[in-house]
Amino acid sequence: MRAPMMTRLALLALMAAAAFAAGGAAYHRPGQRPAVFIRNSDDGDSASPQQVHTSLVGQDKMRISWITQGSAPPTVEYGKSPGAYQDSVTGNTTSYKYALYNSGEIHEAVIGPLEPNMVYYYRCSSDSTREFSFKTPPAQLPINFAIVGDLGQTGWTKSTLQHIAQSNYDVLLLPGDLSYADFYQPWWDSFGRLVEPLASQRPWMVTQGNHEIEKMPVIHPESFTSYNARWRMPYEDSSSDSNLYYSFDVAGVHIVMLGSYTDFDPSSAQYKWLQADLGKVDRTRTPWIVVLIHAPWYNSNTAHQGEKESVRMKASMEGLLYQARVDVVFAGHVHAYERFTHVYNGVANDCGPVHITIGDGGNREGLAKRYMNPTPSISVFREASFGHGQLQVANATHALWTWHRNDNDEAVEADSIWLTSLSSNPACKS
Ligand SMILES: [Fe+2]
Repeated sequence: MRAPMMTRLALLALMAAAAFAAGGAAYHRPGQRPAVFIRNSDDGDSASPQQVHTSLVGQDKMRISWITQGSAPPTVEYGKSPGAYQDSVTGNTTSYKYALYNSGEIHEAVIGPLEPNMVYYYRCSSDSTREFSFKTPPAQLPINFAIVGDLGQTGWTKSTLQHIAQSNYDVLLLPGDLSYADFYQPWWDSFGRLVEPLASQRPWMVTQGNHEIEKMPVIHPESFTSYNARWRMPYEDSSSDSNLYYSFDVAGVHIVMLGSYTDFDPSSAQYKWLQADLGKVDRTRTPWIVVLIHAPWYNSNTAHQGEKESVRMKASMEGLLYQARVDVVFAGHVHAYERFTHVYNGVANDCGPVHITIGDGGNREGLAKRYMNPTPSISVFREASFGHGQLQVANATHALWTWHRNDNDEAVEADSIWLTSLSSNPACKS
């Protein structure tokens, strides 16, 4: 009996190993969770700030964005101690209409100069009942990024956000598909309230996905109205003419945010801007280049195959990223995790970027569970689970990438790799 038992155990172990290698199938994935609508907890005070979030502007400034239901001044008061606000900035206020929906007053103010790695306390619209605080990122490496796409607002999103909050990150990067409001604008307000505890404390830098387009024939023919009104990014600082694509530097990393649903052909404004932007990068100042897009250029999930935002954008722009020796490209759109090796033009290439799909934030559409078989040789790890990623850039040459699966409600590190910057690889000098 002993020999057959041993054989069975060995077989089971082999099957488990094979299943894990095939994409972590040994892990039993829980199902979808319903969407969660976050109501305004304020007792009807129309001047009370809500949906507060922060974003980087240049090397030493932050944009504070918030919404009030009624009229309120676009003023941010801030300082280094709770309740002691030495400085004050008055910004501006906008609003938008979408069919029958009228947004609240959308305020923003750019504050600074600020010291790096410093906690600041602030309040918005002089409201003394709500004090917030944020920490500025470091001026030099090391720096930690949290990265998650296709966030949505479900029970899984809450789980993901809890894990990110515990991760000691400096800046959050989001490769598109934020609220999944999908035309129903109150969901945008709910999303703003859901992410406020994190986004008011650390800068959230985002780009847009297909769920941000919200274009409706006749009723609302303009694209990205809500996204542009609520999530204004510092595009002017990188000489971009659009909130839909921009770049910024933080602590030795040049980050490029591209728009998958904006013209990307070689004659387009986005292409010309990207070409000029990458041409200006000084690798002695920013040894790392990271790019975010929404629709992945490399993807072995059966979901979202063959879409023009993947195929044609890759055909148009992949050469620019390769020539610039971009280190990593993060994408969303596919609701799963997948990491490719260094790749260019469909084949492994030591001087091409690592492509990572991180569209597993927790949205209501659920996971994309089916993969193409056999696994392409360039796909190193793939798994359909909710989770988030962390990029810890240690120094000019090394960064640790880890992917954290929401194992029920616990964050479990399921994939990790040390990356070496292409600027430090003599074989990749262009
Ligand atoms: Fe998407």
